[in-house]
Amino acid sequence: MAAPIVKCVRQLLKQMDFAPVQRRHRHKKKWAATEPKFPASQLALQNFDMTYSVQFGDLWPSIRVSLLSEQKYGALVNNFAAWDHVSAKLEQLSARDFVNDAISRWKLEPESGLSANSSSACSPNLRCFTFARGDVSCFPSARLGSLGVMDYYLMDAASLLPVLALDLQPGDVVLDLCAAPGGKTLALLQTGCCRHLAANDLSTSRMDRLQKVLHSYVPQEIREGNRIRVTSWDGRKWGELEGDTYDRVLVDVPCTTDRHSLHEEENNIFQRSRKKERQMLPMLQVQLLAAGLLATKPGGYVVYSTCSLSHLQNEYVVQGTIELLANQYSIEVQVEDLSHFRKLFMDTFCFFPSCQVGELVMPNLMANFGPMYFCKMRRLT
Ligand SMILES: C[S@@+](CC[C@H](N)C(=O)[O-])C[C@H]1O[C@@H](n2cnc3c(N)ncnc32)[C@H](O)[C@@H]1O
Repeated sequence: MAAPIVKCVRQLLKQMDFAPVQRRHRHKKKWAATEPKFPASQLALQNFDMTYSVQFGDLWPSIRVSLLSEQKYGALVNNFAAWDHVSAKLEQLSARDFVNDAISRWKLEPESGLSANSSSACSPNLRCFTFARGDVSCFPSARLGSLGVMDYYLMDAASLLPVLALDLQPGDVVLDLCAAPGGKTLALLQTGCCRHLAANDLSTSRMDRLQKVLHSYVPQEIREGNRIRVTSWDGRKWGELEGDTYDRVLVDVPCTTDRHSLHEEENNIFQRSRKKERQMLPMLQVQLLAAGLLATKPGGYVVYSTCSLSHLQNEYVVQGTIELLANQYSIEVQVEDLSHFRKLFMDTFCFFPSCQVGELVMPNLMANFGPMYFCKMRRLT
């Protein structure tokens, strides 16, 4: 699989500002001696200013100020805790369950332009509370509940959208290919639909964090039964390891983690020492998405997601991978329309109106979630 992917991604890299320079054109720069040392977060901002001002035009200044401001969280209710009490407590804080509010509103207003099966196109049983637009209140830390598990999980509420889009059905066999630290794995389990869930991540240290999340939020009998399998393999090999196996696959890839890169020096992908790794991200993303699609049963669904605004890591990866699978494997993949998500959740999130494929939540001062890109695909053959 490596050769065609390399070719396809080389074309992507050519369009990036940091495309690899051919060996004969390279000259050595003595960074330490001649260049001032900028923090990685500043390099990230410079990079975003260059690329996103072109990609988003007039929208960039407002996205930029939002990315640099404090982000909002959502509280994902733990269905393994006393969820009705937890929900009541969150309501007392004047937070609202944005998922069920949106679905109930749609049911009351069928003329809203959403198709009849729109609500069924969401994974079920997810409850996530957020504060209203413009309300920048914070949730208190999660607490251990009466049933011995934590009551809710704090996460960027936009991170729930890829899980909602996966539209899990009871009895599904599910793969979470890049699962750590585990927010989306936990949400997948909350749906109650997973007959079997394989949670994988290459990083063993991040997998330790996922194990801690499972330990704190999921009862022992579920953790220790054979419903969940936790592995630490290279996700790029999944197509060869377990091809044509899963009903639903989540491919939440490593990316430039735009918000994190502007705020944290530690583990920042814009550190000079990680330049090569950053250059190779689209290649890795294509390989992971291709593996996720190969692991899916014909007829099954994949959701690809990133927390980056970059169309080189979003739409280009999706389109490049679909082309690759058609050319190299004669596998047909269809992008699913998620525009009803924009209507359903427009009160909570600010969506970019014109993605070529998939949907993008843009940070906005009134609703400072994201960025979160997600695209749903169906493997047809
Ligand atoms: C965006 S994070 C996943 C976040 C996670 N889905 C969540 O919601 O908590 C991307 C993850 O991909 C993992 N990763 C990087 N390369 C990988 C590979 N080749 N195979 C599997 N996982 C990989 C990283 O260790 C990282 O934890």
